[in-house]
Parts: sequence; structure tokens; C-alpha cells
Amino acid sequence: MKRIDDLDVAGQVVLLRADLNVPMDGGTITDDGRIRASLPTITALTARGARVLICAHLGRPTGEGYAARAAAGPSLRPVAARLRELLGRPVPLAGDVAGESAAALAAGLGDGDAGLLENVRFEPAETSKLDAERTGLAARLAALATRYVGDGFGALHRKHASVYDVPALLPHAAGDLVIAEIAVLRQLTSDPPRPYVVVLGGAKPSDKLAVIGNLLGRADRLIICGGMSYTFLAAQGYEVGQSLLEADQIPQVTEVLAEAARRGVDVVLPVDLVAADRFAPDADHRVVAVGDFPADRESLDMGPASRALFAQKLADAKTVFWNGPAGVFEFPAFSAGTLALAEAISRVSGLTVVGGGDSAAAVRQLGFPADAFTHISTGGGASLEYLEGRPLPGLSALEADG
Ligand code: 3PG
Repeated sequence: MKRIDDLDVAGQVVLLRADLNVPMDGGTITDDGRIRASLPTITALTARGARVLICAHLGRPTGEGYAARAAAGPSLRPVAARLRELLGRPVPLAGDVAGESAAALAAGLGDGDAGLLENVRFEPAETSKLDAERTGLAARLAALATRYVGDGFGALHRKHASVYDVPALLPHAAGDLVIAEIAVLRQLTSDPPRPYVVVLGGAKPSDKLAVIGNLLGRADRLIICGGMSYTFLAAQGYEVGQSLLEADQIPQVTEVLAEAARRGVDVVLPVDLVAADRFAPDADHRVVAVGDFPADRESLDMGPASRALFAQKLADAKTVFWNGPAGVFEFPAFSAGTLALAEAISRVSGLTVVGGGDSAAAVRQLGFPADAFTHISTGGGASLEYLEGRPLPGLSALEADG
């Protein structure tokens, strides 16, 4: 796979696919980690005299056709503003993705300039399952530029026009972020130092069963927490009240638990939970043992005994991969579990990888410095699919000659 240093970029219009899909609250960016992680490649390219035309998505706009999606938003306007602040230079935003405004923006860039195209998902063809639709958009995007750099690690698992189809049309290379992320994931998949402990949290087991299946052959211990742990607890016969539950996944979860037992993998579940009377920051709550969960309450966090148990199971780890919070960390009253987990992982002396999305936002929101972990990934789904052993379409496209 070529790197940006292998590409002649001076004076070239470089279409840079970045992952700037940041969480938003109204029009405000709540965690700019992905924008910051994209800066090194942008500045490396501009420093070499490239004309950098950034292409990115935000959210999952829906609607019939371009006009409906663009009207409904979200626009990349707040992202352009944040890029301007962080880069300390103008970053003009095109009024469209690959139309007249985009062409004018590309034509107006000077050597060392950067500009941003509008949300590429305003174009329905970006995410189309039909090759002909995607390649049509890819050709329009490729016509704006003379080089392509793929640096949107968090979107590499998507077979989308700007991720998968454009690289085939232009001389291309992988950006520094993609190179760094893949290097860490390769460490996790090629006989990492042991004990290797995987911590999975977040809402749904259905999202993570495939990765668990793959990791059972690699990890020594599997800690399950957060929303998905309630389905695991239910599979073991515990009452979980009104907690998040994927009842239809209980047979698969039961099978995963049996397979873990066959392979001698230690599966660690919470032993106490914080039972709340509703899903709200000021909900009434109390700590209960998993065997005493009230039928009319829902769990929003794990309790102190679980925090201590998880810390003990992490203490001797030499490798840790963590994806997904242990509770509703966005509500301060229910952030203690995620905070304790992050602290325990930050104390591990070895390779510690925080796998993207919510967990990356959580550690930043809870005040952990970036160097508390070996690596904080920008990709949630992309990291998980890589660890599942699935080929990432965007990575295959960057690896292909061209
Ligand atoms: C992410 O948020 O994981 C990436 O930006 C990909 O976004 P998507 O899940 O909407 O494709």
C-alpha cells in the first residue's frame, strides 16, 4: 500500500477522503477527536504544495434524492469552521458534493490550500448497493482531482463511492491515520503479548457477536459490560427488569458462552448494577447485585463490585482492546463504571487500544489525556470488522495498485 510520501502531490488537486463524522448536539460538535486525528495528513499534504480537496460524510442523511437530503442536512458547515480554527487558515466549504460549486472550489485552490466538499452522503449514490450508481458518482468526484488519498479510517468498512470506487480511478495512497490505525490492529491480530483481555460494552450484542466469535480464538479473557451485558445476564437466567435487552439474541449469546467455556476463555460479566427508575440524568437509582435486579427498573451503569472485579481482571493484562462504554457515561450519575474501566485500562503496562466511536468520546469526555492509552482509534465499526477478520473494502481499494 502506497503512503502519501510515495505520491507526487505538489501542485496536484488531492481528493482526501477523511472521516470527519463527529458527534453533534444541535449544531455543536461535542467531540472533535476525528477532526484532530485528520489534521496530520492534511498538513503533510498542504506542506508539500498539494491542493487538498477534503471529502467526508456526516450522519446518515435520508430522503429521496440529493435536494431532499441537502435540505434536511446535516451540513458540514460546523466541521469546516472547526477545521479553520484548528488549522488556523481558511477552509472554504463547497455548496455541493460534486457539482458546480465543488468544481469551482477545486479550480480555485492554490498550492498548499485546503477546501471541503459538502456532506458526501447528500449524494444518494454514495451509499448505493448498485455498482453503476456508485461508479457514476465516483467518476464525478475523480474528475475534480488528480490524486486520491484515503485517510478516513472510520469509514474503510463501507463499500461507498468515495471510499471504495474513487481510488480505482486516480493514483492513490493511504494517509497517515489509516497507516497508524492498521499498524495497531495488525499488532492485535498477530499474536499479541498475553494475557490479552478484550473489553466489549455498548448497546447491542448483535453488533458484536461476530467479533466475539473471532476473538474467542485469540483472547484470554473477555469482559462484557454496558448495555450488551444485560442480554448476557438474561442468557444466564438473571432478571434484568427494564434494562436494554435483545431477547432474540439470547440463543446466540448462549452459544457464545458455551464456546468460550469449551475454549477456556474467561468471560467476565458485571456482578452488580445501578438500577434506575427511568432513563434520565436525575433518575432515582441504587446499586443491586445481579441476582436481585428489580423487575421495574433499568440498569444504567455497573456497580462498585463489578468495577473492582474488572480492575482485577485487567491488572495483569499485557494487551487490551476496549470497545463500548460500561454505562450511560453521558449522565454524570452513571459514568462511574466507564470511568473506573478507563482508569483500570490506563494502568495496564502493555498495548492498550480504545476502539473508536463512543469509547473514544468517553475517555476524552471523562478527561483522560491521549497518552493514557497506546492508541485511541477513530473507527468503531471499522476496528471491529477488522478484528472480525472481514476484509475492509476501503482498505482493499487502497492496497490495489494505482
Ligand atoms: C462511524 O461513525 O463509525 C464512521 O464514520 C462510519 O459511519 P457510518 O456508520 O454512518 O457508516
